[in-house]
Order: sequence, then C-alpha cells, then structure tokens
Amino acid sequence: MSSNEDVIRALQAAVAATPDSAPLHKHLADLLLASGDYVEAAKSYRRALDLAPDDNGIKTALAEAYFRQNKVDVALVILEELLRGPQPPAPALLLAARAYLAAGEHATAVRVYGHAIAADPTLADEDLARRLTGGAPGTTATPPPENELVFVTAGEEAAPPPSSDVERPQLTFKDVGGMEKLKDEIRMKIIHPLTHPEIYRAYGKTLGGGILMYGPPGCGKTHLARATAGEVNAHFLAVGLHDVLDMYLGQSEHNLHAIFELARANTPCVLFFDEVDALGASRSDMRYSAGRQVINQFLSELDGVNTSNEGVLVLAATNAPWHLDAALRRPGRFDRVIFVPPPDVEARAAILQILLAGKPTDKIDYGRLARQTEDFSGADLRGAVDMAVENKLREAMRTGVVAPVRTTDLLDVIKTIHPTTKEWFATARNYAIYSNQSGLYDDILAYLKLPGNGSGGRKGLFG
Ligand SMILES: Nc1ncnc2c1ncn2[C@@H]1O[C@H](COP(=O)(O)OP(=O)(O)O)[C@@H](O)[C@H]1O
Ligand SMILES: [Mg+2]
Repeated sequence: MSSNEDVIRALQAAVAATPDSAPLHKHLADLLLASGDYVEAAKSYRRALDLAPDDNGIKTALAEAYFRQNKVDVALVILEELLRGPQPPAPALLLAARAYLAAGEHATAVRVYGHAIAADPTLADEDLARRLTGGAPGTTATPPPENELVFVTAGEEAAPPPSSDVERPQLTFKDVGGMEKLKDEIRMKIIHPLTHPEIYRAYGKTLGGGILMYGPPGCGKTHLARATAGEVNAHFLAVGLHDVLDMYLGQSEHNLHAIFELARANTPCVLFFDEVDALGASRSDMRYSAGRQVINQFLSELDGVNTSNEGVLVLAATNAPWHLDAALRRPGRFDRVIFVPPPDVEARAAILQILLAGKPTDKIDYGRLARQTEDFSGADLRGAVDMAVENKLREAMRTGVVAPVRTTDLLDVIKTIHPTTKEWFATARNYAIYSNQSGLYDDILAYLKLPGNGSGGRKGLFG
C-alpha cells in the first residue's frame, strides 16, 4: 500500500468524522484526482461544492475531474458558467482551452487560451500552445511560432464581423405605410437633432439617445429603420445582435466595438440593432449568453464614453421586450421605448398601395382589402401581394396575356392566409398582465383593450 493511499484512507476517516468541512472534502478530492481516481474525486468535489457553492476553485477542480473522465461536455458546462462570471479564474480558462480543443472547437480554444495566459502568464503551456497553433482547420498553412500568436485582447482593433454591411438605402418614409406617430417621434428625436443641432442646443436639449421599437414580427420595425436612413441620406448599418453575441466567447465586446467604429467611420449613419433582447440579463437559452461585460461594453459604446457618436443615429428593435436589460432604458440610451402595433385599417390600405405600386393592377378597392385583413402584419400583406402576383404571372405564362391584378385576386389569396400577429399577442398578453411594472406594457394592454395600471401615462401609437 502506497503512502498516498494511506493518506487518502486517513482523510476519508476524517471526512466521515467531520462531514461538513468543505476544505476537508476538497483536500481528499485533490488527492483522489492526483492518484487517478477521477470518479471518486468528482464525488468528493461535489460534496465540497454542496458546502461551499460559490467556491470557484472547487468548481474548476470538479470540471477537471470530469474532463479526466473524458466527460468533456459536462466539464464545459461547469467551465462556461465560470467563464461567464466577472473574473474567471485563470486555471478555469486554461482547462476550458483544453476542453474546447478536445471538443473540436479549435478557434474558441485558441481564444480562451489567450485569455488564460493573459490572466496568468505562468500558466503558459508549450505543449498545449503547439497543439493549438498547429493543424487548425481553416487557419494559415504555416502556423506562427507560439510567441507570435495574436490574441484579441481588450483595446485592440477587431475586424468587424462579416455580417455587418453598410448600406445606402433608397427607401424613405414615403415607402412606409402608417406608423405616423413613430415617424414623428423619429423626426423629433433622431432626424432633427442631426439636421438642426444648433436649435436643439439652444433649447438645452442634449443630443444622443435612441429609440427602441418593440412589437410583433413583420410590422415594419426594420423597414422603418432602413427608411429613416434613406430619409436623411445616411448610411445604414443593421446588426442582428444574436449573431454578434453568439460568436466566440470573449469576442462579443470586440465585435460590438468594431460595429460602433464602423458606424462612426461612416457618418451620418443609422445604426440599427435588431434583436436587442439578446443583451437581456434574463436570457438563459444561449450557450454564451451576454454577460455583464457585454452589456457594459454596449452601454459605454452607446454613451460614447471614449469617443464621439456624433452623426451616429441609434435605433433598436425587439420582438421580445420582456428579455430586455433594464439598463438600456435609462436616459440618454433608449429612453423612448415604443410599441409598434400591427397596422390599423388605414395603415393596411397604405401598405397595400405601396406594395402594389408599379405592378399592373385594375382599379383596386384598397378600403375593402384593408377591412378584410385585420391582424395582418405588413409582412403578411406582402405575402398576400406576392402570392396574387405570382398567380397572375402563372396565368400570363399560360395564356400569353398580361392581365392586371384585381381586387378579387387579392381577396382570394387573403382568405388562405393566417395572420401571424395573434401568436405574438398570446405571449405578450401574459407579460403585460403579470409583469407590467411601471406600466411598461400599457400600450399592449390598451391595444388588447385590457385595463392597464395607468402609471405610464403614455399614449399608445394607435387609434
Ligand atoms: N408599414 C409598412 N409599410 C410598408 N411595408 C411594410 C410595412 N410594415 C411591414 N412592411 C413589409 O413587411 C416586411 C417585413 O417588415 P419588417 O420591417 O422586417 O418587420 P419587423 O422588423 O417589424 O419584424 C418589410 O420588408 C416590408 O416589405
Ligand atoms: Mg425586423
């Protein structure tokens, strides 16, 4: 019997006598791990963790016990929780790099390894570094020597993510049906401060801050944001935040910074954040959900902490306002949070006119079509028009005659379409009734004709 086994035996007796000492369990577990008994080690770490649930050292060690058993996924679940924290321990980062490598997530492994040795240079592991730099799929053929490895660290310029393309939209407000109050709000808050900054300053109005739109999908949020850019002849940069934040761990902040820099380099620019709920503190369905650092990075970019945001107009949208982080609503940020309802009857008529403009039509009874399309979103209307036009096209191919689209063609199609906004309201209704703090969802309640708590005192955008 080796002396190690003696010590383990002695410790097991001690643990049995003093079962509520976390350090004792951990000590025993460390020895079990060192002696190669990973299964028993994991059990002891678990007990230690029950007694000291916030101990990051024990969590890291537990992850290692699983990693040694080749339970890489289990190890990663524990490690990713640690990595999301404000200051992940360097040994956890190092172990995570190994685990990502084992899981085949090479690029993430490289990045996390970079963070590990940045946090604690003594952890540098030549062997691991060699495995990380060599033979990576999709990287350059000749791996750089270890000391030339380029890790993205805070403050460095990161390349903008490929999804962000700066556009110059031709659309203007004329191409947006209805939404009059929202257009007005955008004029006052976004457009006029840009075109007449001196007047705003004269009234002591500070510039900056953005508008956040929420509501059912397909009701023109993105469309209006794009038209806002066209309206002032500005560039348009649309960013789907889920894409940005879903990228590699630790990369989100750099991506965000790069996006803002791209907008600042292309002023005037409407910077549109879609799915801004991805920044929400209450999201748990993302593997690398946005941590506090990402939200803080977003806020400081928005506030223009280290630089000027002059000429950058910020709009944002979400279909899931209940996931939003409250910090986004503070003054100077998205202090206008606006409900975008499905188009009302006049708006539907206007949208149909816009959609059919330039197409061969008979005299169309827009009023009738609008009345027949209650609960339709703009996107639903677009679907109906597309379908009617397609039917006509098919007919024209068969007969060789280009016949105009008639009201009845559209009515036929409309009957077959199920409006998509109802589903959204089924969810929104619950939030509006049960978590309507400070009257946040009064507009939804009013739309549904349900009593609100009235504390918001804001008027809805409809009716
Ligand atoms: N008010 C509107 N005026 C004209 N077209 C609209 C309007 N609302 C929606 N649409 C049409 O529906 C499509 C989808 O709308 P979109 O702006 O993407 O919705 P959201 O961003 O709210 O989910 C748009 O591309 C546009 O063709
Ligand atoms: Mg959209």
